[in-house]
Amino acid sequence: MYQAIVRTLRGDYNSVRYRFLTLPKEWAHYMLHYRLRGKDWTDFYTHRMNREAELGRGKRPSEQYLARAEEHLAHLKAQGMQPHHRMLDYGCGVMRTGRAAIPYLSEGRYVGVDIAENRLQKGRDLLAEDGISADRYEAFTVADCELKELDGYSFDYIWAESVLTHMPAPEIRTMLRSMKRLFAPGGQFLFTFSTAEEYKRRNVKDFWYPHDFMEQECRAAGYQYALVESGTNGYTRMARLTLPDRASA
Ligand SMILES: C[S@@+](CC[C@H](N)C(=O)[O-])C[C@H]1O[C@@H](n2cnc3c(N)ncnc32)[C@H](O)[C@@H]1O
Repeated sequence: MYQAIVRTLRGDYNSVRYRFLTLPKEWAHYMLHYRLRGKDWTDFYTHRMNREAELGRGKRPSEQYLARAEEHLAHLKAQGMQPHHRMLDYGCGVMRTGRAAIPYLSEGRYVGVDIAENRLQKGRDLLAEDGISADRYEAFTVADCELKELDGYSFDYIWAESVLTHMPAPEIRTMLRSMKRLFAPGGQFLFTFSTAEEYKRRNVKDFWYPHDFMEQECRAAGYQYALVESGTNGYTRMARLTLPDRASA
């Protein structure tokens, strides 16, 4: 009986406490300190990510989490990435994908960007710990979805793993618009996103979009859109964007 009540109260969440205490507090924090003060989503999420990295300073992510880098590289290779190509890891976090991609790519061909400097620093430390020299890659912060920091760069492969899953639609729209100027001829953008029949937002920071919505947004921004086989399961999908007016490299 007690178990049944707890299950009902918990709903889809991990615990009753999370649902009725932690989550409302997070919403209140977001509304009071960000929305009502005219700050945007990126301000909020940057602060959140920096804080999480600060709290986890010195803690190494699980080897299982880090090992997914090999799968990421396999997807990129399956889409044709070769060592001479230039790669942008958008929302690279602790450069998990980088730990496989950097040694594979020629020196200087990997660029990782993130909104959270603390996450990047953790990534630099982890790469150094594992013998990957900072001379082989670039990693720096972007302030928002305009991506002005990347002016003058161009990429054959743009990769965003579990990044659009934490972006509201207006930010995705801005990012899609900004990203177009970073495509090298024949370039492609691979990203994962969470799908649901209807738009859903949970835990303040997790966003699900209907597949048709994502496709329409990408096409409206001027991209060619295709789903690619990614080995992802459940509600996660991987899309590939290309630009129609760019001849193959
Ligand atoms: C779930 S983590 C994934 C990190 C990495 N892609 C990986 O797979 O290990 C999401 C990352 O995206 C970053 N991020 C979220 N929104 C972003 C944005 N608009 N521009 C750049 N990075 C962003 C977050 O700071 C965080 O490091």
